[in-house]
Amino acid sequence: MNSSVLSTPDSMGRIDQPTSVRQVRVSDLKGVFTDEPAWQRMVADGDPLVYEVYLVEPATPSGWDMSYGTTILHPGRVGDECFLTRGHLHEPNDRPELAYVMSGEGVMLLAEVSPGGTSAATTENVRLSPGLVAYAEGRYAHRVVNTGSTDLIFFSVWPSDTGHDYDTVGRRGFWSRVTG
Ligand SMILES: [Fe+2]
Repeated sequence: MNSSVLSTPDSMGRIDQPTSVRQVRVSDLKGVFTDEPAWQRMVADGDPLVYEVYLVEPATPSGWDMSYGTTILHPGRVGDECFLTRGHLHEPNDRPELAYVMSGEGVMLLAEVSPGGTSAATTENVRLSPGLVAYAEGRYAHRVVNTGSTDLIFFSVWPSDTGHDYDTVGRRGFWSRVTG
């Protein structure tokens, strides 16, 4: 990554030369949604794609470099719960993330988490719409929910030496939920 023009996401948010692409299906989100029977039915009935992430990360992470990516979060529901990203904490917890909404409608769930994730001091739901820039301070767990009927597409950037803790959210669930 040494060019001043790194990539050009297309209108669907797909970066042309990602270093990796993640595709997350309903089956990958076991235990994430509260309605387990509805989750099982969706897995059996085609196991749709929930979201895709196009990532650009440097080969050697450092606090002086940035990683970035676009997330395409598809519309849908499991039971009455909107499709969402898995959600995570950053490690160390002073590494922030900045997100720019390209299209769609949704909510970013934020939870200021105590060490170990045993309680949340503060939760905040930020409404997402095209053109909005959302900033998640490092100590906030974050998850994005698509509340609309079209893809929710956002570009985000974070220090490249950021680690991602998915286990805390996976173990105890997120601190707030969105139904629709
Ligand atoms: Fe993050």
